[in-house]
Amino acid sequence: MTDPAPARLVVLVSGSGSNLQALLDASADPAYGAQVVAVGADRDGIAGLDRAAAVGVPTFVDSVKAYETRDDWDAALTAHVAEFKPDLIVSAGFLKLVGPHFLAAFGDRYINTHNALLPSFPGIHGPRDALAYGVKIAGATLFFVDAGVDTGPIIAQVAVPVHGDDTEETLTERIKVAERAQLVEWVGRLVRDGWTIENRKVRQP
Ligand code: GRF
Repeated sequence: MTDPAPARLVVLVSGSGSNLQALLDASADPAYGAQVVAVGADRDGIAGLDRAAAVGVPTFVDSVKAYETRDDWDAALTAHVAEFKPDLIVSAGFLKLVGPHFLAAFGDRYINTHNALLPSFPGIHGPRDALAYGVKIAGATLFFVDAGVDTGPIIAQVAVPVHGDDTEETLTERIKVAERAQLVEWVGRLVRDGWTIENRKVRQP
């Protein structure tokens, strides 16, 4: 029997793209079961786009500023992503909240990785907020995106210790190492084994 075609991933980025790189590296192994078919961004000139281009993965940029309204941007982003017929869309450091067009099209298969243990510390300063609060354990959460800010059903979480001498930078980096491993593991599990979501509980067969 021939192996099934790999699942099609579209990855959305806004920055350095180290999570994207981890997915690109993992998908080099056919046994992983997924391949990155496109990388989208909300801005030009970021390392994440260079990482995709370096391995010949198509890229596209939809900047909010390029559209008259946020709704137009949401519709354009949705159309661009749809062109690549994704099985799963991964927000990997994508710093934009998608809108109703995107969620209507892909709300059942759009995941995000966040660098805090949700529901604590949502938003764009997870490690900074965790450190300021004085928590002793921090981490990362992988979840299905819904219409809220970092509120969707949780797929997986990973914890790391907070050290007494941590700075925002050292804690962020410790979280990112664990976060990348979690992302690679769970994207693979989702595409290979499928999932269900019921009453916020993400389960696999
Ligand atoms: C990740 O830690 C993610 O949780 C946060 O931004 C970071 C993205 O890093 N929202 P990178 O661009 O994948 O290196």
